[in-house]
Amino acid sequence: MAVVIRDIVATDEAAWRVLWAAYIAFQKGIVAPEVTAHTWARLNDPARSLIGRVAEVDGCLRGFSVSLLHEGTWALTPFCYLEDLFVAEHARGQGLGRALIEDLITMGMKRGWARLYWHAMAGNAEARRLYDSFAPSDGDVRYRIQL
Ligand SMILES: CC(C)(COP(=O)(O)OP(=O)(O)OC[C@H]1O[C@@H](n2cnc3c(N)ncnc32)[C@H](O)[C@@H]1OP(=O)(O)O)[C@@H](O)C(=O)NCCC(=O)NCCS
Repeated sequence: MAVVIRDIVATDEAAWRVLWAAYIAFQKGIVAPEVTAHTWARLNDPARSLIGRVAEVDGCLRGFSVSLLHEGTWALTPFCYLEDLFVAEHARGQGLGRALIEDLITMGMKRGWARLYWHAMAGNAEARRLYDSFAPSDGDVRYRIQL
């Protein structure tokens, strides 16, 4: 199995949209078509604020990560927030999720980011098994106000 982790490119659109729709369904979310279009456009903007990476297996897209950099008050260099991580159901348990996270760690070390972090639903046991192998949860509790 030849696995490549690389930047999202414009020709990934159809395959990425299939994975994105499956991810939104997994999250039981609703994302308006214009929001998906906006996200896709930003993933392909050279001056993009989003970092889109894909996991390709034997030439087929099987997973992706979407992250963004932001400044912080606790460090001189940016923090990277991993917002979305997804691997197609039939491709799970083969190391793609791990490879997508390791890819961001490598990128961040090269570029001098201060931190890579993400959230997880407490009940998402499959994801948390993977995450716990990188670092213990920091114990933060998230609050959210929809505006
Ligand atoms: C979370 C997710 C990205 C993991 O992707 P993945 O490619 O299956 O992960 P990996 O194959 O790299 O698995 C890594 C570890 O997770 C565990 N794991 C993952 N899938 C497993 C499975 N089906 N059975 C048993 N363990 C599993 C194993 O402990 C594995 O450890 P190992 O590398 O030492 O074997 C994937 O399950 C997914 O997309 N889930 C739905 C979306 C989601 O939950 N996203 C995260 C939101 S916070």
